[in-house]
This record gives sequence, structure tokens and C-alpha cells, in this order.
Amino acid sequence: MLVRTSLLGALAACLSATAASANELETRQSIASCPGYKASNVKTTANSLSATLSLAGTACNIYGPDLTDLILDVVYETNDRIHVKIQDAASNVYQVPESVLPRPGGSSGNGYRANIAFSYVANPFSFAITRRSNGETLFNTSGSAIVFESQYLRLRTSLPASPHLYGLGEHSDPFMLNTTNYTRTIWNRDAYTVPPGSNLYGDHPIYFDHRTTGTHGVFLLNSDGMDIKIDNTAQDGQYLEYNILGGVFDFYFMAGPTPVQVAQQYSQVVGKSAMMPYWGCKSSATNFMNGTLTGLKWAFISVDTVTKTSGMLQK
Ligand SMILES: *[C@@H]1O[C@H](CO)[C@@H](O)[C@H](O)[C@H]1NC(C)=O
Ligand SMILES: *[C@@H]1O[C@H](CO)[C@@H](O)[C@H](O)[C@H]1NC(C)=O
Ligand SMILES: *[C@@H]1O[C@H](CO)[C@@H](O)[C@H](O)[C@H]1NC(C)=O
Ligand SMILES: *[C@@H]1O[C@H](CO)[C@@H](O)[C@H](O)[C@H]1NC(C)=O
Repeated sequence: MLVRTSLLGALAACLSATAASANELETRQSIASCPGYKASNVKTTANSLSATLSLAGTACNIYGPDLTDLILDVVYETNDRIHVKIQDAASNVYQVPESVLPRPGGSSGNGYRANIAFSYVANPFSFAITRRSNGETLFNTSGSAIVFESQYLRLRTSLPASPHLYGLGEHSDPFMLNTTNYTRTIWNRDAYTVPPGSNLYGDHPIYFDHRTTGTHGVFLLNSDGMDIKIDNTAQDGQYLEYNILGGVFDFYFMAGPTPVQVAQQYSQVVGKSAMMPYWGCKSSATNFMNGTLTGLKWAFISVDTVTKTSGMLQK
């Protein structure tokens, strides 16, 4: 199943089963031919930037058609948080509703003074986030074309060699994420015994990039299934790449610069988790670890509590 298999591998298998001919599939799978986008109609204010992104060449149509018209919206929501959203111009593509996850919004940041800065290249379109205090590049998508199709989104950032990355839960892999040949599949699933290298119960597409010069966070607000690939190859260098089955690119970049500050800035976006009852922690965890759920019935602990508790204990 999805254990140790990538989501896109599964999708490719479905497509190959339905493709008219092997030849056709091969043509469709040449991702290197994806043209990317070019930015036009760029408008900037002291705390925002918007632009139109148009497909920059012949569509590659790998997993469904390339969307030809996108909209880029960048807002310095605070001086420590930049919101970068790339969505379809028609606004038909699914987005996580505000009713499910209320967003803080706001635009009190200042593009000239904020602690992190957004910059872009118009054609082919790419963008970067830099730390203002030292000019360091934190995120840079110029290494490969952005792909935005009906069933596939791809965006890659280059990273310094051997980055210290944390997050992208829920998983039981090493706390500091592997940096080569590593795929984090985000696709919620009850994985009994919590196996390493597997997708588990929860879905938290945020990573912390911890550097000697400071820590920043990158949160992708997208609820579709995704593979996040981290690798370092001779051809492409060190990178982190999002491969998503749908939705839009909805990024929040958080300046830190300490890990605690990144966590605080992240909680300003997604809210704080509900306070756990003190008794709930011990009771549910011990019963769960004992391999039985029977004790939980009389303890009146919701399954939700059990899942969260047992997940925490694995970290
Ligand atoms: C992004 O990467 C490209 C290619 O390596 C490089 O030319 C460009 O200067 C980088 N941009 C930033 C802001 O670091
Ligand atoms: C990458 O990992 C997969 C399994 O996750 C393994 O089969 C493959 O050999 C690895 N490739 C390299 C180059 O290490
Ligand atoms: C991560 O790397 C460690 C060795 O550094 C390896 O033992 C482990 O299997 C890797 N995990 C995954 C999920 O690739
Ligand atoms: C596990 O279950 C056994 C049998 O019910 C009980 O004696 C033991 O105390 C339990 N252990 C924990 C850690 O809850």
C-alpha cells in the first residue's frame, strides 16, 4: 500500500492502467519538459505584491492539464511572516476553507523592514525568501519549473548542503530529517505499531530549517496528499521538493530566528492545540502502550485523545 511507496507512484500506476498506449504515457511523463510560468502585471505596495502567472510554453500535461493562468499574492502579514499564495486565476481549485482553519490574515508587515524578504524572477517565474539581517537565502525555487496541473503540483527549493530540517510530521523517523533519498509522504493513515519511514495518523506540512545563522519555518497550507522529497544529487544539489496531488500553493514563511519563535509564529497561523487534561495523558498512553483499548471505554477518553497522545510519545 502506501507504506514506503510514493503517492505519485500510485497515481502513475493508475494512469498507466488507463493510458491508451505505453507510448502516450511515456510522452506525458517527461516532467523536465514542463514550461513553468512567467509573471506579468506585477503590482507592489509597501507590504504586498501581486502578479499574474501565465504558462510559459507548451503544456506538459503530466497528471492532468497544466493550468494556464495563475495568480500570485504575497503579503507581509507581520515583519516575521510572509504569506505567499499561488492559486488558479479562476479560483476553482480546492482550498482549505476558513471555516476549517481560520487564518490570521493581517498586513501589518513592511516589505522594506521585515526580517525576511520576498523576491522574484519574472521569466521563468521563481521566487526566493531571504533573511534581511545577513542576506542569506532561505528558500529559492529557481532550480526547477513550477508545475501546476489539475492533479499535480510541484515546487522545489534549493537548500544548503546537509541542512538541519525538522518537522513534516507525523512520523517516527529520526527527529532531524534525512537529507538524501528521503520521501515524507503526507497522507493520514492509522499505522499500527508506528513503523518508521511511513505515513502516520497526522498531517503537519511544516518544516523548521535550523541554521547556525537562525531558524526559520515553512508551512504549506494544503490538505491534499503529498510527497515531500529531500535529496542531494550531483545534478540538482541539495533540495526539498513538494509533489502534491491537488490544491494550491499556500505558503507561510516564518522568520524565527529561534526555534521557539518559529513555533510561536506558526501557532499564530494555525492556532494553539487544545490543552490536554493532565489525567488524560497518563491514562490513555499507558493503556494504549499496553496494547489494549478496553481500559479507555470507562475512562471516557476520546479516540482523538489517544491518537494524539500516542503520537506524541513516539517523538
Ligand atoms: C536562486 O538560485 C539561483 C540559481 O542558483 C541564483 O542565481 C539566484 O541568485 C538565487 N536567488 C537568491 C535570492 O538567492
Ligand atoms: C533510496 O531509497 C530507496 C528505498 O527507500 C532504495 O530502494 C534506494 O536504493 C535508495 N537509493 C539510493 C541512491 O540510495
Ligand atoms: C534515514 O537515515 C538513516 C541513517 O542515517 C537510516 O537508517 C534510515 O533508514 C533513514 N530513514 C528513512 C525513512 O529513509
Ligand atoms: C498492562 O496490563 C496489565 C494487565 O491488565 C496490567 O497489570 C499492567 O499494569 C498494565 N501496564 C500498564 C503500563 O498499564
